[in-house]
Amino acid sequence: MQNFEFKNPTKIIFGKDQLDKLATEIPAGAKILMTFGGGSIKKTGIYDKVKLALKDFELVEYGGIPANPVYEGLLDAVKIIKEQNITYMLAVGGGSVIDATKFLASAAYFDGDHPWDILAKRKRTDKGLPFGTVLTIPATGSESNSGAVISNKATGEKLGMGGPGLFPQFSILDPTVITTLPERQLANGITDAFTHVLEQYLTYPVGAILQDRFAESIMQTLVEVAPKVMKDPTDYEAASNFMWSCTMALNGLIQKGVPSDWAVHAMGHELTAMYGIDHARTLAIVAGSHYRYNFENKKEKLAQYGERIWGIQDGSLEEKAQQAIEKTEAFFHSLGIATKLSEYTEDYSNTAAEIAKRFTDRGWLGLGERQDLKPADVEKIVEMAY
Ligand code: NZQ
Ligand code: ZN
Repeated sequence: MQNFEFKNPTKIIFGKDQLDKLATEIPAGAKILMTFGGGSIKKTGIYDKVKLALKDFELVEYGGIPANPVYEGLLDAVKIIKEQNITYMLAVGGGSVIDATKFLASAAYFDGDHPWDILAKRKRTDKGLPFGTVLTIPATGSESNSGAVISNKATGEKLGMGGPGLFPQFSILDPTVITTLPERQLANGITDAFTHVLEQYLTYPVGAILQDRFAESIMQTLVEVAPKVMKDPTDYEAASNFMWSCTMALNGLIQKGVPSDWAVHAMGHELTAMYGIDHARTLAIVAGSHYRYNFENKKEKLAQYGERIWGIQDGSLEEKAQQAIEKTEAFFHSLGIATKLSEYTEDYSNTAAEIAKRFTDRGWLGLGERQDLKPADVEKIVEMAY
């Protein structure tokens, strides 16, 4: 096992009817900016419940944050925070709203003219404006980690940011929120969380037995509950296990002591930036070809994954590893998620070269757990995903 430090300060408040606790989690006298998305919280009633719970606070609303939040659109919120002396934020939504709020938390204290530098120059955020979250869609784990992904309209980029100052102080996780999610978002959440585990697991063995078992238990749980969640989101047992798996998949725990990959996400973010494809679906497009291309480096863990998650017992290590990749794609298909780029857009012939060029321009010359994936390799992987 590799050396590590682990600290996750986010308080999780999990279960039905937990919104009443909201007021006690926010410091008395705080002036709150409440952030939310395109309106689902008004339809689902969460908006009214939050407003009621916070009736004794001074509250400023900032709604309309789109899926895959955009830097340019958030600049007016930075202004509001500064001009109205906001002291606390509450994100009510999914990964997009929470990530946007993390950007605002960082930008509030940013010393400079262009907060995009936080992303473009990879500036770590050690101190951010404090915030909590009310999660409305299980998927990203953003409710319990310190990372965010923001798009820039002008440059066509989608980049990550983060730092210890960006953990939510608390997150309220009520599994019943999934009852209003469309099938598309349920499938996205399962796929995103599952791929988060793959990124931190499908590397090479380092003798981290417990970490492997943590990761496997999350994947096993997702595989078990996926059909139940898709069929009946009112099944509370399935919903609660789904939601907790998504949080556990990316709250930092399973990444400790092991190498991690994250190349699938790096390539996937480009597909969202170029074509607007849902985040989770971009991962399903890239994953299979990434694991096939890097087969030699990953085959031990692929075979272990095949045995333990998919019950593959027969064949050589290589055969098990191959079958494991096929099972992964079949799992995505079972959720209605297509795994080829050509199933999302007709205009893909230059995609691989363009992504390789972007990575070269940004100096991303060595991706993956061994930092040995060059832009030329990325080009081949994306081409394989056509
Ligand atoms: O905008 P509204 O109207 O609220 O609708 C949303 C949105 O259209 C809707 N929705 C959310 N909760 C709902 C609901 N509809 C009905 N009932 C509810 N209870 O769902 C749609 C998708 O929401 P979004 O927040 O975009 O989804 P998700 O949580 O999948 O977040 C995706 C974003 O997170 C980033 C992705 O790149 C993408 O930008 N990620 C963030 C990560 C992190 N911070 O750790 C890691 C991930 O790998 C990912 O990159
Ligand atoms: Zn993801």
